[in-house]
Amino acid sequence: MRHINLTYTKLFRSSRLGCYSVWFALLLLTAACARRPTGLGAQASFPVGTCVNLNKLRANPAYRATIEREFTSITAEDVMKMDSLQPRPNEFTWASADALLRFARQHHQRVHGHALVWSGALPKWVLQFKGDTAAWDQLLRQHITTTMHHFKGRVKAWDVVNEALENDDTFNRTIWYEHLGPGYVAHAFQYARQADPEALLFYNDFDLENGPSKLNGTLRLLARLKAQGIKVDGVGLQMHASLNVPFSSITEAFQKIAAQGYLVHVSEMDVQLNRYGQNDALTQPTPALLAEQRDYVRTVVAAYRKLPPAQQYGITFWGVSDGDTWLRSNPRHPEWPLLFDDKYQPKPAYEGFREGLTAPLTR
Ligand code: G3I
Repeated sequence: MRHINLTYTKLFRSSRLGCYSVWFALLLLTAACARRPTGLGAQASFPVGTCVNLNKLRANPAYRATIEREFTSITAEDVMKMDSLQPRPNEFTWASADALLRFARQHHQRVHGHALVWSGALPKWVLQFKGDTAAWDQLLRQHITTTMHHFKGRVKAWDVVNEALENDDTFNRTIWYEHLGPGYVAHAFQYARQADPEALLFYNDFDLENGPSKLNGTLRLLARLKAQGIKVDGVGLQMHASLNVPFSSITEAFQKIAAQGYLVHVSEMDVQLNRYGQNDALTQPTPALLAEQRDYVRTVVAAYRKLPPAQQYGITFWGVSDGDTWLRSNPRHPEWPLLFDDKYQPKPAYEGFREGLTAPLTR
């Protein structure tokens, strides 16, 4: 009898243990599947992203839920810029950016690094820095190297230099240009490549889709870097567009960049209803303009899909809902440039994106 009891006990324990392990495996599987995006990012053959504001992610459930559901790539709107990462000389603060990376990992989202070298979001100590050329170059190198070492393996692509050019070949007279000359762009990419040889390195700028001048100036800059043996992997077209940016210049930009072999990242897309250069000063979006925005987004997505798939790095919007757009930082300039309305409901532009994903590919 005792023998039977012992056997029964062992059998019961092993079956109970078996039940626990099945239960635990199911729990893990559910958790893993439950967190995968199911919206646009799941429907597209390329990553679909948004910039993310960490404070909103923590405070706004609708903002967070929309990002979890729709996007497979995120770009830190602010917490991976120099003023956030190195607020004081040689003092790096990673907590906010690391929190964003944890969120992205939990939701199977890629993180695109933005931005290592820019004239914006500079901490005061850099704006007030006094040093010779060698000191400025060391400052540039240390920020790039320390940052990329910290995120290595978790952030696999970076906007290394953001907005270096005017509207043609000429360089913006940024603080980097003033202290290092035009060569700072080459140094930035060299230091980034040395810091993380595995990372994809991007040049990112606006108005590249607005006509040939800045686009050709950018491609000439990158060609000069290539001639020096400095490889840039991709180009970010910010695409802060409006309804009167012609499709022909957008498709020309996509094709010219791809023809040079670069990855193409639509990196900060929004489509303003207020047409560039026309002070129509809208106070509300009209159904007609929202329909036009839908057509616009559909056309851009369909054009993007004509690129070689291997060069489709992704389409990232600069914000989730119209209420989140940076464009509203100017209160006199209300705007409704994104896929979701102020209540995080999909707009016609959201449908336009989906239609663009299934539009016939007439190459
Ligand atoms: O965090 C501080 C806060 O502590 C302070 O109280 C508050 C008021 O001064 O400022 C907060 O910092 C702001 C930061 O956004 C975080 O909200 C900065 O002032 C503000 O200048 C910053 O604006 C960002 C801007 O880049 C400059 O970095 C925008 O959110 C962001 O959308 C915008 O994004 C840029 C891209 O990086 C590059 N391409 C253009 C695009 C639009 O300007």
